[in-house]
Amino acid sequence: MRNIGPIVLLGPPGAGKGTQSKRIADRYGIPQISTGDLLRENVQRRTDLGLKAEAQMARGDLVPDNLVCDMVAWRLRDTDCERGFILDGFPRTVRQALWLDAFLKHQFLENPKRHVCSPIVVRFDVDYNKLSLRLNGRRTCPACGLIYNIHLQPPQVDELCDVDGSKLIMRDDDRYEVIQERLATYERQTMPVAEYYARERRLISVNADRPVDEVTAQLFQEIESHAAATASG
Ligand code: AP5
Repeated sequence: MRNIGPIVLLGPPGAGKGTQSKRIADRYGIPQISTGDLLRENVQRRTDLGLKAEAQMARGDLVPDNLVCDMVAWRLRDTDCERGFILDGFPRTVRQALWLDAFLKHQFLENPKRHVCSPIVVRFDVDYNKLSLRLNGRRTCPACGLIYNIHLQPPQVDELCDVDGSKLIMRDDDRYEVIQERLATYERQTMPVAEYYARERRLISVNADRPVDEVTAQLFQEIESHAAATASG
């Protein structure tokens, strides 16, 4: 199997990062590492990390950098990340981005089995006016993780997953007041991350206002070009 390398997906809440991550993971056989999902699992299991993160997540604020970076470091050491991985929702602050650069350099250089190449960084650009509808209508399957939207991509049977019939759930932070705070947090703390990668000429922008399949097609194209350029260079 081919090496794909790290893929970083940036974008505001509801931009489609999770939806597209699952398609990229299926196509290339690399894991989706969603810091939001990992944190929600910790909250659910009442771990130390979950107890520390719960209040910030409920308000729509970011969890402190050191906690998130430690969690990502643990996950990236797993062997399923050797050919590449998708970071969905990380980095979200400039400090996280600097940490990631340093981690990839050291962790991957030390281990000859790991594929060393700079990440492909993609920013999803979306019209903010559409995000409330996307987030408020989002429903997720607790069993397989598939993401639906009751307005835009509804399941065949109301509130049930098409794949396994589980009852779909709505996320606690998809309430209107929390959505506003999450968007403000994105502007304040994550937009500078995109600027950091743009300054380094490592940022690719994708128009994520288009239908899901069109966004996927462009992402696959960008990933193929990046993988080819890395292999030849
Ligand atoms: P997280 O879980 O990462 O949430 P988020 O970034 O706010 O992103 P979302 O999962 O809401 O949206 P998405 O872009 O994945 O959209 P999706 O594909 O689901 O983070 C949650 C919290 O955890 C944070 O607030 C923070 O507290 C904490 N956290 C996480 N990471 C952290 C970090 N690194 N540092 C510190 N704290 C962190 O799609 C949304 C909806 O739109 C769906 O219904 C979907 O069907 C629909 N849709 C998708 N694409 C399209 C399309 N092209 N057209 C129409 N509809 C579409």
